[in-house]
Amino acid sequence: MDLDLEHTDHLLLTTKQIRKRMDMTRPVPREILLQCIDIASRAPMGSNLERNKWLIVEDADLKASIAELYRKNAESYFEEGRALTSDDRSERVISSAQHLSDHMHEVPAMVIPLRLDRVENATQGEQAGFYGSVLPGAWSFQMALRSRGIGSCWTTLHLGSEAEVGELLGIPDTVTQAVLMPVGYYTGDSFSVTPRRPAADITFIDRWGNKAADL
Ligand SMILES: Cc1cc2nc3c(=O)[nH]c(=O)nc-3n(C[C@H](O)[C@H](O)[C@H](O)COP(=O)(O)O)c2cc1C
Repeated sequence: MDLDLEHTDHLLLTTKQIRKRMDMTRPVPREILLQCIDIASRAPMGSNLERNKWLIVEDADLKASIAELYRKNAESYFEEGRALTSDDRSERVISSAQHLSDHMHEVPAMVIPLRLDRVENATQGEQAGFYGSVLPGAWSFQMALRSRGIGSCWTTLHLGSEAEVGELLGIPDTVTQAVLMPVGYYTGDSFSVTPRRPAADITFIDRWGNKAADL
């Protein structure tokens, strides 16, 4: 099948982190989440070892307890962020993140990609192999959702309380929570492209410092 470049590039350019535009009132069917996890499971894994699991949180009480822990960690983070923030873009991100934090308990579902093992004391190579085997799937998951009109947000603030969240969800302490994604249908269908520095400014050719833009 020929890939339609216009559509695939559009998907990659506009898969945004959704917070204020998440519809908290419309449930996301579990079958769709499983379909997206199925797609996401095709992402690369070191040695092709299938040591990933996924956990979908649907229960309202569990979501409320996780949201409380999330907020506890988020508040100090936002305070520090506000003290350091001087530009409009950062302020917008903090305001959006604050909104999600305030409404975290209302999200239709939370999805947590997990990987068996812990890497606190691992070498850098082992850590790269570990996270490189679970995070690509999380990004594929976000894009699979986006293709279905569903948004999500990459969050890690709950990890300040990883053990408590793990206990709530019965996750063994030998397992790592890679990211927590609140998931919900998004409102509106136009997304701006996130501003980033051009490739030629951030890419070196053959040697560190040899900027592609200067050649
Ligand atoms: C490693 C990582 C951790 C993040 N943690 C959080 C988080 O805890 N809460 C949150 O609201 N956003 C979090 N984000 C989302 C970023 O703030 C987001 O990528 C940024 O606002 C840009 O959004 P955009 O990609 O939609 O333009 C995280 C993103 C990454 C990559």
